[in-house]
Amino acid sequence: MSILSGKRIALGVTGSIAAYKAADLASKLTQAGAQVDVILTNAAEKFIAPLTFQSVTGRRAYTDNDLWGNEAHVLHVGLSHTADLLVIAPCTANTIAKLAHGQADTLLTVIALASQAPLVIAPAMDGGMFDHPATQENLDTLRKRGAYIIEPLEGHLASGLTGKGRLPETPELIGHLRLILGRRGLLADKKVLITAGGTQEPLDPVRVLTNRSSGRQGYALAQAALDAGAQVTLITTTTALTPPVGATVVNVQTARQMLDAVLKEFSESDVLIMAAAVADFRPRKQSERKIKKEDGVPQIELEATEDILKAVADLRSRMKRKQVVAGFAAESQDLLQNASNKLQSKKLDLIAANDISAADAGFSVETNRITLLFADGRTESLSLMSKSEAAEIIVERVAALLE
Ligand code: CTP
Repeated sequence: MSILSGKRIALGVTGSIAAYKAADLASKLTQAGAQVDVILTNAAEKFIAPLTFQSVTGRRAYTDNDLWGNEAHVLHVGLSHTADLLVIAPCTANTIAKLAHGQADTLLTVIALASQAPLVIAPAMDGGMFDHPATQENLDTLRKRGAYIIEPLEGHLASGLTGKGRLPETPELIGHLRLILGRRGLLADKKVLITAGGTQEPLDPVRVLTNRSSGRQGYALAQAALDAGAQVTLITTTTALTPPVGATVVNVQTARQMLDAVLKEFSESDVLIMAAAVADFRPRKQSERKIKKEDGVPQIELEATEDILKAVADLRSRMKRKQVVAGFAAESQDLLQNASNKLQSKKLDLIAANDISAADAGFSVETNRITLLFADGRTESLSLMSKSEAAEIIVERVAALLE
């Protein structure tokens, strides 16, 4: 999560039962390298102690006592002017009302009024309070002023009722913060299309031909492109991973469906990264009913699937828009030679070659060891690194090619 590294985040916590979740948020942001300054309201202190936040952030947590101390002015000016983001999570209806009306009677609302940083509000309250026209109008006012509202989730509420008012869990909250921090990144305003996962080619209603691709590298690329400010469409076969916040997700299963989805989006895209492991063969016939043992061992005849990157190369030659197309080469032998052949035959700008015979790289593991080959003949060997780190480097190189 290098986008969070070194960022200064002022985290306001208000008096909602979800205040305990803010400790996890503060902890995860700190672990990701952010400097987190927590400001609690009096009501928040009834739910959770400043010491909890101090313990997870390694920094002093501020309360309304600090509003009247000797350092008060320095403090609120300091916190409001140095933050990259002001996040209020959870944010009660009461604090939302104060923010909408410019009221400044707590340290947090003083900071909010003085701050130039983007304001992020994650409301959490009882469903009735959230739906109330007063709260909705206050939120509209804040939205119009440029605040980013993280919508609460539907579900079980502390009141025992079900409704809209739950604070999302930490990974989702962080996903939103990444989107805001990335807004002016290397790929701001660019449309990036990414494919992920192994395709599934049905044999009968229960069986498929597929491969070991987990989709992790593709999902990491989608997150890295979002961090760089891109509008991301993720075409994926995977259902086991949570898509990054902000990505438009298109679910597909077969190579044919993936081809159709890619061709539909490609002409509007600035970048295509084909991280999916597309099946090269599919059963020629798909049985409508389950193949039964009694019928004996079936002979399965295969046929070639469409090569998506080759179809894209044809389409691209007729396109005026500057586009960058990147592929992956998963190889178990002659890595660089095979990758170089694919770079040329698929008319790519960049190919990421990985040796799937190594235990710590390629399919189904968290790490990758990639060599990048560029159309102009350059190569770049990356050391063993996490798929997220590899994704960030690939996204940077793609952005450079687009310039
Ligand atoms: N690819 C594709 N369409 C296919 C097969 C692969 O667009 N039908 C893309 C992959 O997403 C990847 C690149 O082509 O970005 C290389 O995929 P790979 O499976 O390594 O190569 P193949 O072309 O399938 O060749 P082979 O399997 O024989 O190595």
